[in-house]
Formats: sequence, C-alpha cells, structure tokens
Amino acid sequence: MAESAFLAPYSMHPRITISQAAGHENETVQIPGWLFNLRKSGKIVFPQLRDGTGLMQCVAVKNALPEDVFESIKNLTQESSIIVTGKIRADARAVGGFEMDVEGLEVIQRVSEADPYPITPKEHGTEFLSDRRHLWLRSQRQHAVIRVRHAVIKAVRDYFDSHGFTLVDTPIFTPAACEGTTTLFEVNYFDDEKAYLTQSGQLYNEANAMAFGKVYCFGPTFRAEKSKTRRHLTEFWMVEPEMAYADLEEVKRVAEEMIISVVTQVLETRGPELKTLERDISKLERVAAPFPRLSYDEAVKILQAKGSEIQWGGDFGGTDETILTQQFDRPIMVDRYPSAIKAFYMAPDPERPEVALGVDVLAPEGYGEIIGGGQRVHDLELLLRRIAAHHLPREAFEWYIDLRKYGTVPHGGFGMGIERCVAWLCGLEHIRETIAFPRMLYRLRP
Ligand code: 4AD
Ligand code: MG
Repeated sequence: MAESAFLAPYSMHPRITISQAAGHENETVQIPGWLFNLRKSGKIVFPQLRDGTGLMQCVAVKNALPEDVFESIKNLTQESSIIVTGKIRADARAVGGFEMDVEGLEVIQRVSEADPYPITPKEHGTEFLSDRRHLWLRSQRQHAVIRVRHAVIKAVRDYFDSHGFTLVDTPIFTPAACEGTTTLFEVNYFDDEKAYLTQSGQLYNEANAMAFGKVYCFGPTFRAEKSKTRRHLTEFWMVEPEMAYADLEEVKRVAEEMIISVVTQVLETRGPELKTLERDISKLERVAAPFPRLSYDEAVKILQAKGSEIQWGGDFGGTDETILTQQFDRPIMVDRYPSAIKAFYMAPDPERPEVALGVDVLAPEGYGEIIGGGQRVHDLELLLRRIAAHHLPREAFEWYIDLRKYGTVPHGGFGMGIERCVAWLCGLEHIRETIAFPRMLYRLRP
C-alpha cells in the first residue's frame, strides 16, 4: 500500500506539537492542526494554528512561497485541517512565545464556504453553543476548563495514590439504592430484573475498606434529580475514599488535605488555563489549612442572623450555602447535621443522637457543597434499626449487614463531585461547562 498523502510530504522535517515549539527554535518543523484564525495584511498572511496543545501564530509571506501555496493559505477557512511546515522563531509578543515562518502547507480538508464553521468569534447564546458542544470544545475557554478538569482528576489520584489508598472501583449497575430510591435511574437488566445506575460507590467501598484498609473509587455516578440548577448534573464523576478505623475527625482531616493538594497542583500546572479563564487566582492561593470548622447549629445561627428563613432541622438550600460561604475566604466544613435529614448509614453522635457524624465541605465564593461524607454506622443492632426505620428492604442489604457481623470497626469516608470542584476552581457560573458532554434534566444531546 502506498504511504498516505497525510504522512508523505515534508517528511524530512520533524513533526511536533505547538507545546513542543520551545525545543525546536530555528528549526524547520511540521505542525498538524486546524486553522483557528486568519489575519491578512497585504502581501503577508497570518494564519493562527491550533492543535489542542496551544496556539501558534504563523507568518506566510507572498514572496517567500510558491504562488499556489500562498493563494491556498490566503483562502483558508476557519477550522480547516492543515499541516503547516515552517521555521520556529522566538517572539516575545507571540501567544506562546514563538512564531512560525511558513515554508509549506498541506490542506487536509478545507471547510466549505457554503457551510462554514458555525462558531465564530462573535457572541453566541448558551443554547446555541450547548447544541454544538462537539464543536464548542475547540474554543479556548472550553479547552481550558477541560484541561483544568484533567489536572483536578490527576491531583486527586496522586493524592490518594501517595497516601496509602488502594483504587478499588465499584459497580455502576446496582440492585438497590444507596441514597434513597427517588433519585435512581432504573434500567432493565436480564429476565425482567431491574437494576439501577449507581448514585454512589460508598456501600461497596465500605466492603472494600474492610478488605484493604484505605480505598477509593472514582467513576461516574447518576442522579435522577429533577433539579435544574447551576450545580446539578444527572451524570457526574465522584471520587470516594473510604477508611477503616477512621472517625469523623479523620475524614475531615483527609478531605482538607486532599483539597489543598488539588488546589496547589492545579495552580502549579494550569496557570495558562486559569489565565485564559480570567480566574482570580489570589482567591485560590488563600486555600490553606485550617479550614474553618463549624457545626450545623452554628451555621443555622449565622444564617438566621443574615436573614435566612432556615429553622433547626431543615436542610440548607443553595442560597443558604452561598450566604454561609461568603463569610469565609476558604472552604468550610460543616458537621453534625440533624440525623433526620441524612442517609441511613450516617453514624449518630453518641453524645447527641439527634445529630449525625456527617460533614459537608462548602467551597468559597458561593460555590456550595463540593464534598459530603462522614462516619458510618458500624454497630450491627443500630444498623438494623436504621434500615427498618428508613423502610429499606433488608434482603437487599444482607451483604452490607455482614460487614457489621464480621470484624466491624468505626469507619468513614466522603465523596467529592469532580464537576463541582472544577466549577469552583475555574470560577464558572454553571457546572455544565466542566464536563465534555454534560447530562442534565433537559439535555441528553449531543
Ligand atoms: O453528598 P452526596 O450525595 O454524598 C454521597 O453520595 C456519599 N455517599 C459520598 C460518600 O460519603 N462516599 O454527594 C457527594 C458529592 C456532593 O458533595 C457533590 O459534590 C456531588 O457529589 N454531587 C453532585 N454533583 C453534580 N451534580 C449532582 N446532581 C450532584 N449530587 C452530588
Ligand atoms: Mg450531600
């Protein structure tokens, strides 16, 4: 088979990415990519190339190029796929610090003028862009957000991997609920058996913690909540650590240490992306230990003093979380919520059984809850009473009950929603931009 035209021409030059330009100064290289923008100025044309790793300003001079090559550069359309050959030259004024003097160009596909790329530099509405999410991802802001997301995920994994946690992933098809049945997506399994898409790996994580000591799972989770807010997705990614022989204080310590580690690593590795997003990083630089710790009781008092309608016993609404976090310059930890509003597995405080040994971490700047977790019920009798009180089918929980029969120990953990964390770090108005293809109440496409 003949070598494809894609690989053949100019193959005497190294093919690099824009991010590698610094190592090829004064060298002629090839960069495959897409036309981001084109500026013309008489006998010089400035195609701006993007390749997913950066932007490169190219300079094409009429006199230095064969007539047909110059013409084809001049007539390039936005998002046409091209392979540019040229010499890398340092230029302090250029976007990435380098420019490329064009020596040749191969057009892989020229986008037709009759059906031009729909996303132009002008302002588009969110609906228009969301309908074209498959293309919108090429835009600089979206690109930056997804790169921050990658860094968050890597930082989370680095933290757990270097602190003695074993990755043990939990199932996505589950036979029963974890957080209550109202928010489950039901699917048909085989032979008319129903299964549900997981809303948390926690219960399985508890079994894994008894086998491995410290574990984490990290995967997609699903919530059929009919909430149409800027903080809710129906499919989101959650990282959940779980630790044997751990109490609420240990859970809080790990949550705090992990968040600081994630923020630090994102600041270190995603400076340019945060700049693209115009994020005020001084706010992130303030994220340091210790995070303010307050009880639910204290939080209710603060909220009431600020004019909230909340009464003891009620759950915080998004507005309450916003008011609360605006009082502080770093994430806060609120613990001991009323047991009545928390899940069946939350351990009651032995000194005050009406409150649970649970904790929520609320991000600053009004971003609200990013982490929920706490200490679990580890006593067999108590667990049985809680399962009955919550009208849960005992048969479905036999395996979970076993964990309290065979060497039960105090244990706990938490879950952090990756998208909520990314929205906060990027300073985004809405969570939908934090995942490549968001799933929400009214959005299943593209
Ligand atoms: O507070 P949640 O419901 O806690 C649990 O699922 C526990 N079982 C976790 C555990 O202890 N292992 O959810 C945890 C986090 C929230 O703090 C939030 O960041 C995120 O998951 N989250 C959502 N993110 C996006 N869209 C939604 N609909 C979310 N629901 C929860
Ligand atoms: Mg929660």
